[in-house]
Amino acid sequence: MNKIKELEKLKQEIIADTSLPLTTNLVFGEGNPDGEVLFIGEAPGALEDELVRPFVGRSGQLLRKQIRALGWKEEDVYITNIVKRRPPENRDPLPEEIEAYKPYLTRQIEIIKPTIIIPLGRFSMNYFLPEAKISRDQGKLFRTGNWHVAPMFHPSAALRGTTMMNAFVESFKKLPAMLQTVKKMKSG
Ligand code: URA
Repeated sequence: MNKIKELEKLKQEIIADTSLPLTTNLVFGEGNPDGEVLFIGEAPGALEDELVRPFVGRSGQLLRKQIRALGWKEEDVYITNIVKRRPPENRDPLPEEIEAYKPYLTRQIEIIKPTIIIPLGRFSMNYFLPEAKISRDQGKLFRTGNWHVAPMFHPSAALRGTTMMNAFVESFKKLPAMLQTVKKMKSG
């Protein structure tokens, strides 16, 4: 089965899983399943729920601008979230919501097999690196299990202040070099 079909099958399984918390639209993810880079945010917001697309609101605009600033196309990467439905009032996802959606994220990653994973913010970072601290570890490259992971600030955190914005932009600039590093490690 090709990746597009496998992802579609996974999406249908999530839709059929009535035990999952949250009842808003399923925002499964979008982009190139053969892409090398996978971005994982927290959970959809109001606009994402309305348009059924990840990262299309204010923080999404910033994320997509940074991707383009690298000379990459948004369609060449894959973008998704750890929790795939919008929590009410845009509150943080609850631990039980993260737990419930986690197995589906795991399978989505296993289908895509990205070269590098960029968790955006602490919730998706902690899925890979439970002990990591976002302000200390963002912009660094880690290996965990099969995956190479470089956490970054969530773009909504970057939008809250200059210090975090500068760190977010600087970490993003390191992404092409980190990608090359991972590719060399994998080929050698
Ligand atoms: N914030 C996220 O974490 N994900 C989205 O899709 C939008 C905003």
